[in-house]
Amino acid sequence: MTPRRTLAPQAEPEEGVLDRALRPQHLRELIGQDRVRENLDILIRAAQQRGEALEHTLFYGPPGLGKTTLAHICAHEMDVAIRVTAGPAIERAGDLAAILSNLHQNEVLFIDEIHRLGKAVEEILYPAMEDFALDLVIGQGPGARTVRLSLPHFTVIGATTRLALLSAPLRTRFGAIYRLDFYDQAALEKIVARAAQALHVPLEPEGRAEIARRGRGTPRVALRLLRRVRDFAQVRGDGVITGDIADEALALLEIDHRGLDDLDRRVLRAIIEKFDGGPVGLDTIAASIGEAADTIMDVVEPYLLQLGFIGRTPRGRVATKLAYAHLGLPTPQEAEQPSLFG
Ligand SMILES: Nc1ncnc2c1ncn2[C@@H]1O[C@H](COP(=O)(O)OP(=O)(O)OP(=O)(O)O)[C@@H](O)[C@H]1O
Ligand SMILES: [Mg+2]
Repeated sequence: MTPRRTLAPQAEPEEGVLDRALRPQHLRELIGQDRVRENLDILIRAAQQRGEALEHTLFYGPPGLGKTTLAHICAHEMDVAIRVTAGPAIERAGDLAAILSNLHQNEVLFIDEIHRLGKAVEEILYPAMEDFALDLVIGQGPGARTVRLSLPHFTVIGATTRLALLSAPLRTRFGAIYRLDFYDQAALEKIVARAAQALHVPLEPEGRAEIARRGRGTPRVALRLLRRVRDFAQVRGDGVITGDIADEALALLEIDHRGLDDLDRRVLRAIIEKFDGGPVGLDTIAASIGEAADTIMDVVEPYLLQLGFIGRTPRGRVATKLAYAHLGLPTPQEAEQPSLFG
């Protein structure tokens, strides 16, 4: 088993309790994602004014940016209950039919990893989302007939890290689709500061900046780094997170100044050293370093793209000059040119 990555944006089990305590409950408490927040505010208020259920809403983007948080905020703001499920958890069409028929007016059904819904299950969802109807087949063989039950008006909120894997018919049934972007330094600093306050951890501005800078634009990662740095400050220092303490703690975790960890660097090195800088497909990269292609696609690639360390071409990924510079490697052109200094 590969060791757990400190930077993995996927949630870890023990993070659950703390997550819930720190998770913003209201739209106005949400830091960053200004465009999404503003649009959602309008969507929610409009539905409230009309006394209707919120439109079906889809959130997509890399892990740890706040999709689940936003789903809960929507339900909270609408003052309705939220039922939580996930694509892989709904195995049969009947499972979904049971969930749907237990929903009440205006309630939210949150489907995480919605791109992993089975085909048969999806087909139940189409009329449910569009016409608030549940088509049930009664009987078998030639005598079988369908009856249509009507459902209360409810809201599906879907979340996915892979919009491209969502079928077109499913996608078009969402009235609002929002992409979550990586957070900028200022927003991450605010998130880290707020969490430090809640955890009663003394945090100096330089320490806050260092954690945010290395949090790969992802609240979940920045919050995890905060906890690791807190441990370090407690054991090696006097508990205060200064810039130096944060830097030492993160260096010990092998997280560099741009927030890259060992896996990110292995991916970059593979592109550069094994595939001459690319283009090379993600699957090939994954196989060459023995990692799951999913992890590289969901977690590594979006951040490296964001930093401009890799580029996407029709034939695969290429390493950019910035990547060579970051790793301290000469670009192919530089390597070919004879150095002036011998
Ligand atoms: N805007 C924000 N402000 C403060 N904290 C946030 C914000 N967005 C996310 N978080 C925190 O980051 C963590 C991860 O958020 P969340 O679980 O909503 O991510 P996600 O997009 O659903 O991830 P996944 O794809 O893994 O399900 C949570 O602890 C949440 O409280
Ligand atoms: Mg989530």
